[in-house]
Amino acid sequence: MAPTLQDHCSSADRAMSDKVIEFLLSNPGRFFSGEEISKSLGISRQALWKKISSLRKNGWNVEGKAGKGYRLASIPSHVELETLRATFSEKNFWEEIHILESVDSTNSFLLKRYEGGIKRAIAIGDEQSSGRGRMGRRWFSPRGKNINMSVLLPLAVSPALSPAITIVAGLSVAGAIRDKFKIPCQVKWPNDVYLAGKKLCGILTEMVAELDSTRSVVIGIGINVNSERRDFPPHLRDLVISLKEYTGKDIMRVDVASSVVELLLRNLEIFQRRGLEMFIEKWNRLSFLKGKVVTLRTGKEKVQGEVKGIHRERGYLVLEDEGGNRFEIISGDVEEIRDR
Ligand code: BTN
Repeated sequence: MAPTLQDHCSSADRAMSDKVIEFLLSNPGRFFSGEEISKSLGISRQALWKKISSLRKNGWNVEGKAGKGYRLASIPSHVELETLRATFSEKNFWEEIHILESVDSTNSFLLKRYEGGIKRAIAIGDEQSSGRGRMGRRWFSPRGKNINMSVLLPLAVSPALSPAITIVAGLSVAGAIRDKFKIPCQVKWPNDVYLAGKKLCGILTEMVAELDSTRSVVIGIGINVNSERRDFPPHLRDLVISLKEYTGKDIMRVDVASSVVELLLRNLEIFQRRGLEMFIEKWNRLSFLKGKVVTLRTGKEKVQGEVKGIHRERGYLVLEDEGGNRFEIISGDVEEIRDR
């Protein structure tokens, strides 16, 4: 199995139990005055200042602003990964939690764990050497900046509903980021989350079905959190965006990943019991494509039409061409988009 980070932490990082660290980690991104922090922790201002200086020396970005106080803007990547492990361990839900410095692909990794008999696992890679996208494409993500995460879950639905699962996952990513950070991202059929007209996240759903009809799914989610344009190959630079680029601030991956997983698990529960129907209204509200005229490539063919919505059970894209003919598209690539 690939190495985890547990054994590679320096003594400064091991001081995770430290009160100041705990305080900062449980209040990321928010400013607190030195007085507030020292009072609530029962330590002197001088001890607080010493601790903050030492954290800064160890790569923690604790911002200090006159009149506002201190805030934790970002933490060293390996500490952040440990925080991810701690966060996902809290709920006692996962059979296995894999926080990996480097992995070929978190989806491939969990498919192998499934073959090894595991049913419920989460994997996060700081870096993927062969990140996989839809249709055999490569998924690019710079080391230490973004979220490369997959979840393996038992899911009692037919493999034909795989596109619908991707839709539920996309709505979970968009919904969690909207709720937590008030960032107006949208879903773009079939498997993307968009922000300001650019790709913020891609989703790769892979289902495994056994002869006895037990089924499991691996949902892989790649979110551009702190990447910058120059981190991507030139041909992708104008097509992608990150949360940092949009907000101008470093964002803690643990905050994004934990809120996404929480909403994803809740939504999959609803989807299993009540189907995609429950998500149609939300999709219509958050859709980047609804009402637009798109040109879609499906295999060797091209279809053009206005996006009317998605199929209420299966998540296929519903298009209507100029002649009023309706098409249901199972999978395809959107090549052109224009307003009606
Ligand atoms: C796409 O947009 O084509 C889908 C991209 C999916 C990327 C994620 S990152 C985590 C998981 N592991 C992978 O190899 N792929 C998915």
